[in-house]
Amino acid sequence: MNKVTLSVIKADVGSIGGHTRPSEPMLSSVQSRVRSAIGKMLIDGLVTCTGDDIAIIMSHKRGVGASEIHRFAWDCFLAATSEAQIGGLYGAGQDLLVDAPSGNVRGAGPAVAEIEFTRDPKSKDRPAEAFLIFAADKCSPGAYSFPLYAVFCDPMHNGGLLLSPKLHQGFTLSIIDMDHTAKDSDRIVRLHVPERTWDVACLLQNPDRFAIEAIHSRYQPDEQVVSVSATRLHNIAGKYTGKDDPVAIVRTQGIFPAPEEVVEPYQLGHFVTGDCRGSHVMPIMPVAINTPVAGPFCLPVVSCLAFSMDAEGVFAKDYVDLFGNVVWDSTRLKVQQKADEWRRQGFIGSTMASHAELAYTGIMETLASLDKEFVLRKEELVGGTKGTK
Ligand code: 13P
Ligand code: MG
Ligand code: MG
Repeated sequence: MNKVTLSVIKADVGSIGGHTRPSEPMLSSVQSRVRSAIGKMLIDGLVTCTGDDIAIIMSHKRGVGASEIHRFAWDCFLAATSEAQIGGLYGAGQDLLVDAPSGNVRGAGPAVAEIEFTRDPKSKDRPAEAFLIFAADKCSPGAYSFPLYAVFCDPMHNGGLLLSPKLHQGFTLSIIDMDHTAKDSDRIVRLHVPERTWDVACLLQNPDRFAIEAIHSRYQPDEQVVSVSATRLHNIAGKYTGKDDPVAIVRTQGIFPAPEEVVEPYQLGHFVTGDCRGSHVMPIMPVAINTPVAGPFCLPVVSCLAFSMDAEGVFAKDYVDLFGNVVWDSTRLKVQQKADEWRRQGFIGSTMASHAELAYTGIMETLASLDKEFVLRKEELVGGTKGTK
């Protein structure tokens, strides 16, 4: 049995002229390390960027959470940080929140999504391995909640849930409570859909606290379909250091939804927490891979690459940039117009992030100092009432 692990590890370790994109020397330093590791520790690998985040997409045989793989990615990000420092770039080393991780970099700053599966071309259910890699910038891990809910829980979005007897058996969603910050444990609930769809909906209503972390097939319970990086940088750092900018792996076709079903919800330009200073609510725009963030308010962006993997685990030599295609142009225009209209409301109410999100930024310090200036009007009110009699 040929077990292969797909690991996507992503970090923001510096960018040109603000939070736009990493520099060429940063990307080259990571690419040359990945090239040298292919055929040794890695089966295959690819380095991409989405906004200011560098994603390392790797296949290997060391399993999920392997310390050698995580340490390799960390060392790549350290090398890119040095290049960012040399170039005087903004936010050098931004997401590397500890001095040296103990092994697994999850909880140390970088975003991690991983799935291990059997790669067997003779398999009845999965002779081919197709998968999508999503990378989002300027947003929190809840950014994938709407699209994943739409694809795995709602036949109004995904007719495949009705058309395919294998999809019809449903899925198991693992939802993480991102406010649970104990170092030695994660707080997870596993819910079967479609039976528990409304319970899933109740949790996902709050994308700042709950996020889908994994989805498994119920037709083949050993098969994991989805992995999402769902950790909160501000919970790790104790202050705002940048947005989480999550990555996701979604396996497709056969016993899983088709790629065209998985990307359908991104037509909406759904609202996510993020953009400028990570402190607003804005619609997310599907963009081509390696697109810098250049617009007003740092609009949240998401990229999506489609891959096929051969029997040995090789995947990177060719891919399709789904959101880079012309069919997404009208969505982009619509999302930018939606964003422009929405931002006219400035900071009042829903256009700025919730207080739970702002808890690690300056606004809370101002509120705390203003709190001392508040007075109770009870006495004044009594006097005033008397005076008018
Ligand atoms: P990043 O999380 O992508 O670094 O963006 C941070 C920010 O504050 C942009 O305004
Ligand atoms: Mg940044
Ligand atoms: Mg970023």
